Amino acid sequence: MKITVAGTGYVGLVTAVCMAEKGHEVNCIDINKEKIEMLKSGHSPIYENGLEELMQKNKEKLHFTLDSQEAYQDAEIIFIGVGTPEKRDGSANLKYINEVVDQISEIVQQECVVVVKSTVPIGTNDKIEKKLKSKNTKIDVVSNPEFLAQGTAVHDTLCASRIVIGAENKRAKEIMLKVYEKFDAPFVLTNRRSAEMIKYASNDFLALKISYINEIANLCEEIGANVQDVALGMGYDPRIGSKFLKAGIGYGGSCFPKDTKALHWLSNLHDHELKTVKAAIEVNEQQKLRLIKKARKKYNNFEGLTIAVLGLTFKPDTDDLREAPSLTNIPIFLEEGAKVKAWDPVGIPNFKKIYPLEIEYCNSIEETIKDADMCFIFTEWSEIVEFDLDKYSELMKRAVIYDGRNIYDNETLKNKGIHYFCIGK
Ligand code: UDX
Repeated sequence: MKITVAGTGYVGLVTAVCMAEKGHEVNCIDINKEKIEMLKSGHSPIYENGLEELMQKNKEKLHFTLDSQEAYQDAEIIFIGVGTPEKRDGSANLKYINEVVDQISEIVQQECVVVVKSTVPIGTNDKIEKKLKSKNTKIDVVSNPEFLAQGTAVHDTLCASRIVIGAENKRAKEIMLKVYEKFDAPFVLTNRRSAEMIKYASNDFLALKISYINEIANLCEEIGANVQDVALGMGYDPRIGSKFLKAGIGYGGSCFPKDTKALHWLSNLHDHELKTVKAAIEVNEQQKLRLIKKARKKYNNFEGLTIAVLGLTFKPDTDDLREAPSLTNIPIFLEEGAKVKAWDPVGIPNFKKIYPLEIEYCNSIEETIKDADMCFIFTEWSEIVEFDLDKYSELMKRAVIYDGRNIYDNETLKNKGIHYFCIGK
């Protein structure tokens, strides 16, 4: 089928490449010239496992353009995968979606299904369809949320846990089933508003699960329990499940923080307070400062101290910094006059855009921890997990570790004379 994908970020590009892999002819459009040029030369502007290889493999079926006429004029299906970032009040910013919809409305004369992949507030698909149908009654709008996690986005799309299709008529539903013909996954066929809600309800539930285990972790510290054992014991119950029970320094990324706030905002708009989601947001904001709170027990402030930071991205296997705990903590170190040395296997170029001079960026973990007074771990990169623990005492001025991801064993570190502070144990 002839598919056009608007937006070449995590959602758009991964969707486009996976659709090409399944045999479709895919045209990708973006407003960013640099990105399109990079994509045309066969390179991915985002760091995502397996994506570039799949782009190469399907290069005959993938086309990239800046020209909206070329992109939309004969598309049978148009996927919208542009960003819906958070506005200051917590609501979703639909500016980019609206721009794409305006262009589609101007150009598309043919029969076409417009598929909204971006996460949008409930009711947005209805508004989009109303706008498009006012110019072309042959357009249908379908909500088809994505459930891909960064780092495993290609796998999550090709081997989807489920494919949710929110359509209001038989024709649109049938076309979507044809688009996904070669995907082996359970299908949830529903109406548009339910599909939009499935996305928010799923993400907010996962965020809530993390905030819940983080609160339990904080209590475990007070009462002398070990949250990792607690999570293990809970996770064997199939009704609970073992995933997303890793306590730590809070969730980040481009989805959970924004989607919890957006649903909370939307519920308030309907005079309906979502108390559990509100709690998840509040707990997460506090959790991001949990290690600093611990360090404060020993140090009044960080002035004059050398702080080694290991891990800058919001999670491993991505170069994305959005809502990363490093961005909450490092400014506090800097404001109080600490010297910050940092290492991350892929996140440094993006971090440099925010802090070009204030931080000493290092090429290795050894170089980062050398002569440091303390070390903060914000991301569980495998290089940090597998690092030779003896080097902490050998290289640091004082072997003090604040670990936001619980990657080491307390006893082992204690036996090596390292002061180790983590979360919930
Ligand atoms: C998430 C959802 O998983 C995905 O389905 C949705 O489409 C987009 O949002 P992503 O943001 O890429 O994906 O990352 P995810 O792996 O879910 O992690 C989100 C955050 O939660 C990270 O900061 C991670 O460190 C944190 N996390 C995750 C925990 O703190 N504990 C856990 O047990 C799991």
